[in-house]
Amino acid sequence: MTELKKVLLEAANEAGKIITQYFQGDFNVESKEGINNLVTEVDKHSEKRIIEIIKNHYPGHSIISEEVGELMQDSDYQWIIDPIDGTVNFAHGIPLCCVSIGLKHKDELLLGAVYNPMMNELFFAEKGKGAFLNDKPISVSKKTNFETACLVTGFPYKWPSDRSEHPIKVFERFILEGLPVRRLGSAAIDLCWVACGRFDGFWEYNLSSWDVAAGYLIVQEAGGRITNFDGEPYSVFDKQTLATNGHIHESMLKLIRNK
Ligand code: IPD
Ligand code: CA
Ligand code: CA
Repeated sequence: MTELKKVLLEAANEAGKIITQYFQGDFNVESKEGINNLVTEVDKHSEKRIIEIIKNHYPGHSIISEEVGELMQDSDYQWIIDPIDGTVNFAHGIPLCCVSIGLKHKDELLLGAVYNPMMNELFFAEKGKGAFLNDKPISVSKKTNFETACLVTGFPYKWPSDRSEHPIKVFERFILEGLPVRRLGSAAIDLCWVACGRFDGFWEYNLSSWDVAAGYLIVQEAGGRITNFDGEPYSVFDKQTLATNGHIHESMLKLIRNK
């Protein structure tokens, strides 16, 4: 495990250096599907360096990474990478973005790192060994009173019109309850901020495995609860993500499902 951890942290650290080097500088920005789903040359540069480091040490491992897609091998190990989470923030010089790397063995997440170099915050978790912010143990908030919870969410760029309820309707229910709901623009940071107790809960539709893999383990290891919107056990491939301190989970589920 120590070698895997070393490689994970080296990759996150190197990606962090690249992100910092370009932050608020000049770089090329392109749109993916839709005009505001962005990718910059820095996402690609960061991704290339992360993959290079992993492949140098573990050439037989599988990789899923946002910009290059799936590099599958016959291996039980899978690295799940978001080279910049919060690209829109990054492209606008907003210091809420990070690199996120998770390592899965068969169906179980073993390691996760989320690094926001602009705030000098490295979140890390190892299965069964707890979650840390810059090497200090972290845990979710102790808040039990849902009425005074502080929440965070995010929205997909596109929502098919044939789907029943638009996520903005769910958001509206929380706002009408008078709850403070923030929108930071980086799902990986949202999860980590639940893990360290800044937020009491986070929900979002349609995230991808690279947005959540590391943050999922960090929330779990910090003592939080993460499920889909039916309250069922979570998988990184789920399209509904609810992460909380555990105490307010049922109240959030109720409001999301409107039942
Ligand atoms: C995005 C961020 C954002 C979430 C979007 C993601 P990206 O990732 O996590 O918070 O709302 O759904 O796509 O594109 O910045 O890597
Ligand atoms: Ca992302
Ligand atoms: Ca990304």
